[in-house]
This record gives sequence, C-alpha cells and structure tokens, in this order.
Amino acid sequence: MLKTISSKTGIVIVAAGSGNRFGTDIPKQFLTLNHWPVLMHTVNRFSKAIENIEIVVVLPENHHETWKNLCEKHDFTIPHKLATGGSERFYSVKNGLVEVADCEIIGVQDGVRPLVPTKLIKKCFDTAARHGSCVPVIPVSDSLRKGNFQQNEPMNRQDLYRVQTPQVFRQSWIMKAYEQNFMPEFTDDASVVEQLGYQIFLTEGAEENIKITKPADLELAAFFLSRQSD
Ligand code: C5P
Repeated sequence: MLKTISSKTGIVIVAAGSGNRFGTDIPKQFLTLNHWPVLMHTVNRFSKAIENIEIVVVLPENHHETWKNLCEKHDFTIPHKLATGGSERFYSVKNGLVEVADCEIIGVQDGVRPLVPTKLIKKCFDTAARHGSCVPVIPVSDSLRKGNFQQNEPMNRQDLYRVQTPQVFRQSWIMKAYEQNFMPEFTDDASVVEQLGYQIFLTEGAEENIKITKPADLELAAFFLSRQSD
C-alpha cells in the first residue's frame, strides 16, 4: 500500500471506447483474461496499490448493466462508482472526473491496460504528489520513419517515447485542463494538461503495461500475467 503520500487519491478508469479494431462482439474490456474480465484486473490493481483510493469506472450507458451483472457473477466487491462515457476519450475522462473531484491527486487509466504493476501505480501517484504530474513512458526501440510509402524520411528516435497510463495530476491541474474545449490533438491526459502550460514529468513505464487492442494482445497479457508476482 502507498505510504509516502497522505493525499486523498482518485482514479478514473476509462472503458467506453467502441473497440472496433478487435473484431469480437464482446467489448475488449469484458473479454476474459485468466477467469476475470479485463476491466476487473485493472480495477483490482488500483485497489491493491493504494489504500482507500476512490475508483470510478467509465462505461457506455448500455454497458452499465452488463458490468453490474459481471460484478455479481464474479463476486467482485471492490467499491467503485460508475460514470457514462462520451464520444471521445476526452469526454469519457471529463464525465469520470466529476465523481472524484474532491480528491487531491487524480489519475486516469485506460481500462484495457489490466497488467499495470502496482509498483508503477505507486510511483506515478507519489511523483505527481511532489511535482504536479507524472506520466509513464517507454523509450522507442525501433528505428522510425515519417511520411508515406513513397515519400518518407528517417526520424531521430533518441528522445521519443511511447506513452502509457496511469497519467496522474494534481487536482487543480487536471480539473482546469478538462474545462478546455476538445481538440483532436487530445489523445491522452498529458496533452490536455500540457495545453495549459503545466509541466509534464515522465517516469519509466513497464513493458507489461500493454493496451489490449487486438486478439494477440490478450495472449500476450495472459503470458505476462503468468509471470507477474504483484
Ligand atoms: O481508443 P483508445 O486507444 O484511445 O482507448 C484508450 C482507452 O480509452 C480505452 O480504455 C477506451 O475504452 C477508452 N475510451 C473511452 N471513451 C472513448 C474512447 C476511448 O473511455 N470515447
């Protein structure tokens, strides 16, 4: 459990995407990973990492009942609130933030990242408590090219990163940031907060903190799960 910060903490877990890249009828957050729906793993990670963290799960209106039934079926009793998703991730986060507005440190997590290590969660909340923000990243290891198949040029990968969640912020920063009008560039929370001029602190993410977007990711997640100790 997190001992280093005494602030009241909250996490918005967004799971209201349409997920049409996966090719199944069941939304990816409800697919089974080692006996539990993906989303339950994600919620459980935060509950285990930080004592008394306030959890809000954001789902499309028509999936609220499905989720409640799954919780009952799996005897899943971790306390959490439900909020309704919007047409863009930005609006889903915004709806979730209302439910944790009284927390001092607030994170946002993709519901489809079920393997986020508890150690990484603690590190992100701890760093955000000290610096105002914390975003986990992985340095890019492939070579990169920019352009199209005909015309393209190499890019320097030296200072490029892949960005993960949880992205964690001081309450006043994230609440103010989400009062802005939506812009298509807002693909994650750091981009929204940064637009107001706040500094984004990065920390080393985790390779196993994958986002489940295609069928092979579920197999990879099962593999990582079998090796994880926390
Ligand atoms: O599609 P993308 O990779 O941005 O999705 C990241 C997370 O945001 C997923 O967990 C997805 O369910 C969530 N999301 C959402 N509402 C949307 C779009 C995405 O909650 N309108």
